Amino acid sequence: MPDGIAAKSLGTLSARERFVRAARGEPVDRPPVWLMRQAGRYLPEYRELRAKTGFIEMCDRAELAVEVSLQPWRRFGMDGVVVFSDILLPLRGAGLELEFSPGPVVARPLAAESDLARLGGEIEASIAATCQAITRLRRELGERAAVIGFAGAPWTLAAYATEAKLSRDLEVLSSLAWREPRFLDRLLDRMVETCVATLELEIAAGADCLQIFDTWAGTLSAERFERFAGRALRAVIERLGPKRPPLVVFARGAAHLLEPLAALGADVVSLDWRVDLAAAAAGIGQRVSLQGNLDPTALFAPLPELARETEALVRAGRAARGHIVNLGHGVLQRTPVDAVATFVRTVQESAP
Ligand code: CP3
Repeated sequence: MPDGIAAKSLGTLSARERFVRAARGEPVDRPPVWLMRQAGRYLPEYRELRAKTGFIEMCDRAELAVEVSLQPWRRFGMDGVVVFSDILLPLRGAGLELEFSPGPVVARPLAAESDLARLGGEIEASIAATCQAITRLRRELGERAAVIGFAGAPWTLAAYATEAKLSRDLEVLSSLAWREPRFLDRLLDRMVETCVATLELEIAAGADCLQIFDTWAGTLSAERFERFAGRALRAVIERLGPKRPPLVVFARGAAHLLEPLAALGADVVSLDWRVDLAAAAAGIGQRVSLQGNLDPTALFAPLPELARETEALVRAGRAARGHIVNLGHGVLQRTPVDAVATFVRTVQESAP
């Protein structure tokens, strides 16, 4: 427990400070809360806008991206507002044709080393609206929330760049890793450039915190994670240097990768719902802050049960050096709006 003076100053923390401090493992009054995919189809006001506009167009129009990013914040007052965009948009800047129908499809995926010649480096134009949206959100929100930017990790971007339509077992990318490791290394190097360029542009635009999504890293053994996805993540983090805003790394299905994830140099490791938060707090939670990790399907539980689950999560997170409360993956489409309200409010009302 903080002493009297510290407790008094902690009592005046803004949402933005609370978020950044928890990410860095500094004391806070209560843990900050946000949800991955908090702007999306479970919200009627999102569906209304989306009925008139394609997903990519919504991302590419800064005024719409700002509006959609703010929709969940106006209802629930999360501590973090994530910019409405997608990890795959910068692939357009690398020269790939991208469509959502409704899942992402890359028109001519990269199949061989010679295809790398097709790749360009025009990342800036491909996320210009995202960066404008970050700047406007920062101005509009002031201290009332942290603005979260994000990028896809090299391994996950490489998965979408090589698989026309992603297979659950990542068959195309995984076979490249075994059969053409030199091609894959060169592709990962290009995706490191894409990831770094994206994050640097978002930092320049004013992001308070950054999250790297390595959604598909969990398909790798620990040894092969080090060889491919981990090597590339480390390169990204080294390239960003020490003066960056706090950085979160998320990987799905990565309970076997917690140690390597904690050793990357990020400030926060985001856990999926299958990891026991208390165990992670006792382990890596002394070296990095933790984010997560309520099962997204727990939002279908009766509200009192959801509140109890959320309280238990907040309690377990206290053993880590810092905890950002979140789900273990994105909000599901059929999630009741009331459940998101209960989840956020339960954290907001939790005692230090
Ligand atoms: O978290 C947020 O609220 C910010 C916005 C955000 C989106 N995608 C919006 C989106 C973020 C951070 C992402 C990241 C993303 N996109 C990831 C990594 C995180 C994860 O979920 O594992 C990945 C793998 C993608 C790629 C992607 N984009 C897929 C597989 C899909 C289709 C599946 C789906 O849920 O529809 C998308 C589309 C997408 N990205 C939507 C949203 C709100 C749905 C678009 C719609 O309205 O049709």
